[in-house]
Amino acid sequence: MNTVDGRTTSALLYLDGVHVSFDGFKAINNLSLTLAPGEMRAIIGPNGAGKTTMMDIITGKTRPDEGIVLFDGTTDLTRLDETHIAELGIGRKFQKPTVFESQTVEDNLLLALNVDHSVRGTLFWRQNRSDTERIDRVLETIRLTDARKRLAGSLSHGQKQWLEIGMLLAQDPKLLLVDEPVAGMTDVETQQTAELLKQINRDHTVMVVEHDMSFVRELGVKVTCLHEGTVLAEGTIDQVSSNERVIEVYLGR
Ligand SMILES: Nc1ncnc2c1ncn2[C@@H]1O[C@H](COP(=O)(O)OP(=O)(O)OP(=O)(O)O)[C@@H](O)[C@H]1O
Ligand SMILES: [Mg+2]
Repeated sequence: MNTVDGRTTSALLYLDGVHVSFDGFKAINNLSLTLAPGEMRAIIGPNGAGKTTMMDIITGKTRPDEGIVLFDGTTDLTRLDETHIAELGIGRKFQKPTVFESQTVEDNLLLALNVDHSVRGTLFWRQNRSDTERIDRVLETIRLTDARKRLAGSLSHGQKQWLEIGMLLAQDPKLLLVDEPVAGMTDVETQQTAELLKQINRDHTVMVVEHDMSFVRELGVKVTCLHEGTVLAEGTIDQVSSNERVIEVYLGR
């Protein structure tokens, strides 16, 4: 338990009373949400509900107008820039994969592993044994061991998404934020991505935004439904998907 300004939280991520407006439009409106250490949380909600904006706030891309955002009990994320927040161990995967297409799968992971070194450090850096072991482990997790020497550009869309998740894992973040990982994936890839995230969640805290309800159901974790920048419902997938307001604004569309 840590105390900040009289507030106590054992949560890894704690948002309370967060507000963000863009030109008078309230994108985030009194948003409160907590993530326990080790938890995986699924975030659902209609287009424009504020899911991505919430991730922008956590990662320092967007500053809240008001409210509290704490990481690891004591760190006020609203005072830090994106680089600093990434260094604290918050990794984010955007919807579109941004792998280096002309590099091999393995080299993409090496680049990610070495991301916080200086340019000079990168030039003179040599791969050591623990790096190799970590990359082997990541490759296995993301199911790309057999593709390690392939160019990232030759991977399927789903494999590129996994590689990007692997690039985050290489940095061993405390919290992983994943925005719509299965958009554009085949059913088989979607199913495998659910397995992959469950495996990652064994030793990482994860927040995953997704519209694919069968994928969310497969994850089997607590679900938060956002609407108009605030929490509309929270609970098991069965509780949330039978909530009348959730059906009205989202599922029943
Ligand atoms: N930088 C910005 N400037 C202006 N408006 C923004 C900005 N970022 C987000 N918005 C607006 O805030 C609202 C919430 O957007 P956000 O992208 O967070 O929704 P979302 O829940 O991720 O939706 P989707 O499911 O479509 O990805 C939208 O109306 C969006 O247009
Ligand atoms: Mg979004």
